[in-house]
Amino acid sequence: MKKVTAFIGSARKKATYQAVQEYEKNLKQYGDINFEYVFLSDYRLEFCQGCKLCFDKGEGFCPLKDDRDLLLEKLELSDGVIFATPNYAFQVPARMKNLMDRLAYILHRPKFFGKTFTAVVTQGTFGGNDIRKYLESMGGNLGFTVTKGCCVRTLEPMTEIREKKLQQEIKKSSERFYKRLIRSTPSFPSFFRLMLFRMTRTAIQTTDVHYFDYYYYKDQGWFESDYYYETKLGLIKKMMGYFFDFLGKKMLKHM
Ligand SMILES: Cc1cc2nc3c(=O)[nH]c(=O)nc-3n(C[C@H](O)[C@H](O)[C@H](O)COP(=O)(O)O)c2cc1C
Repeated sequence: MKKVTAFIGSARKKATYQAVQEYEKNLKQYGDINFEYVFLSDYRLEFCQGCKLCFDKGEGFCPLKDDRDLLLEKLELSDGVIFATPNYAFQVPARMKNLMDRLAYILHRPKFFGKTFTAVVTQGTFGGNDIRKYLESMGGNLGFTVTKGCCVRTLEPMTEIREKKLQQEIKKSSERFYKRLIRSTPSFPSFFRLMLFRMTRTAIQTTDVHYFDYYYYKDQGWFESDYYYETKLGLIKKMMGYFFDFLGKKMLKHM
């Protein structure tokens, strides 16, 4: 049994909710899934004040006392996560963006390794594919293994052709998501992810003032490891890892 949670950025139970219901229906055809809907509008999430205490001292120092930790717990208890959102003026709605801002410290200290992530975007006409890509990139930055999501048109009236297209898109995305979901091992890092890890680590390790990130990396053993988690890099990626260390040091010298 796999636990999948959909975080929904729309306050109404309409197009985005229906698209996620279709996603759930597909997933349940493939295997045993415990599916949960989380409407962000049902949670109290204050706007980030930009104090940076979560970055510098740790997330426990956030002055906002709201439902952030409840949402975090839901992410942590899931095997798979879907961020589902309508396109609002070519971006995610403010509620969804605020969730990203409140989780931004995790970009420094990724954690959701081995969990699967995807994005579902609904829209009237266009612009949603960039939103899908943005969400997918955020999923990767948070540590998830990302599978390609989908962007579907929900323009009223929903004709039979439009409905069919929507179902096809969701079917393709849900198949990819499920295939990844049932694999228990985290994915091999791409060159890009390897570069991010090695260069961020160099920056954290070589600065004089030690913020929370430094101690976190130290505790996790990330200053000595090849990557965030145990993985076989292979010769080329191993060499590239050393190269990124070198490049990081060079860049820091010129900053
Ligand atoms: C404030 C607002 C802004 C929107 N901006 C866009 C847009 O830029 N592009 C687009 O294709 N659709 C846009 N839409 C349409 C919605 O993305 C679309 O109807 C969506 O499926 C609504 O999802 P929901 O029923 O779950 O709220 C917008 C809708 C609203 C309410």
